[in-house]
Amino acid sequence: MKCKKCGGVAVINMRHHRLALCADHYLDWFVTYTQRTIEKFRMFGSGDRLLVAVSGGKDSLALWDVLLRLGYQADGLYIKLGIEHQGYSDRSLDYVQRFLETSEAANPPRAPRPTQHVLHVVDIKGTYGESIPELARRTGRGRGKPCSVCGLVKRHVMNRVAQEGGYAALATGHNLDDEAAVLLQNTLRWQTGYLARQAPVLEATQPGLSRKVKPFCRLYERETAAYALVRGIDYIYDECPHASGATTIFHKELLNRLEGRSPGAKHSFYLDFLRAKKKGQLLLPAEEVELHPCEKCGQPTTAPGLCAFCRLWQ
Ligand code: AMP
Ligand code: FES
Ligand code: ZN
Ligand code: ZN
Repeated sequence: MKCKKCGGVAVINMRHHRLALCADHYLDWFVTYTQRTIEKFRMFGSGDRLLVAVSGGKDSLALWDVLLRLGYQADGLYIKLGIEHQGYSDRSLDYVQRFLETSEAANPPRAPRPTQHVLHVVDIKGTYGESIPELARRTGRGRGKPCSVCGLVKRHVMNRVAQEGGYAALATGHNLDDEAAVLLQNTLRWQTGYLARQAPVLEATQPGLSRKVKPFCRLYERETAAYALVRGIDYIYDECPHASGATTIFHKELLNRLEGRSPGAKHSFYLDFLRAKKKGQLLLPAEEVELHPCEKCGQPTTAPGLCAFCRLWQ
């Protein structure tokens, strides 16, 4: 397989784009494609300060890398969950810190503006008193499995740090495979409320809520993995040992089989959904939910009194 641009040896073939590229041209293409996604969905502008949620995995580190290369002012946020199994949390933090140490040198930005960036680390146990597995055990939420507590805590902390730091947007590394799996899950159960809200940009509709963006939502997982590999970004390969969603993994497998039969299936499943929604062809009016500030932390919540996060720590 030859690179379409220069005829050199291709490292990746993207059938849905009918495009095979060599290492150098792939890195260029990937950065440009991300910038186009940012513009297409009006995620943020060149002067905006961004907060990137980095887990130590390939997607979020690749995202931070790309944003820095594009010349954005992007700080990182790592949330230390306290998952001790095989030193998972410590090891993922190591990858993030190593990325930070090397990123200055490895990141001559494409844009002329040099960027300074910092990493915020929030240690859940150090800050709130219990790690995620401890919190899950004590509260029994999610039947002792940490994933649901973990999701709730991560959302709260990301929003808090983005608010306190005055960031214009919070960026996560969700890729096309993630988004398509969630879409399939929501569609199978016709969860119209979730479908109405599933989007590359979640606007800050309330004071106290941050804008959330997913600049990799049009990129396949294999494409973000290839970027990290070619770019030499070292990341944690293991999934969280609590392997959050067996269902999500199952839906990803189903979609992979579909993709194998008809290349581009995930891409059109997700992007045609967004297109139809935008044109108003899906009658999914977002439910009007009334939010008020939590009595303790002030973040918007549907619950009267304390938000779900603050109730966890009572
Ligand atoms: P996941 O829910 O694990 O698939 O992660 C989705 C996105 O959430 C990642 O791409 C990151 O942007 C972010 N994220 C996940 N875990 C963490 C963490 N411990 N600290 C900061 N961001 C995270
Ligand atoms: Fe949160 Fe696994 S329980 S990442
Ligand atoms: Zn080439
Ligand atoms: Zn609260």
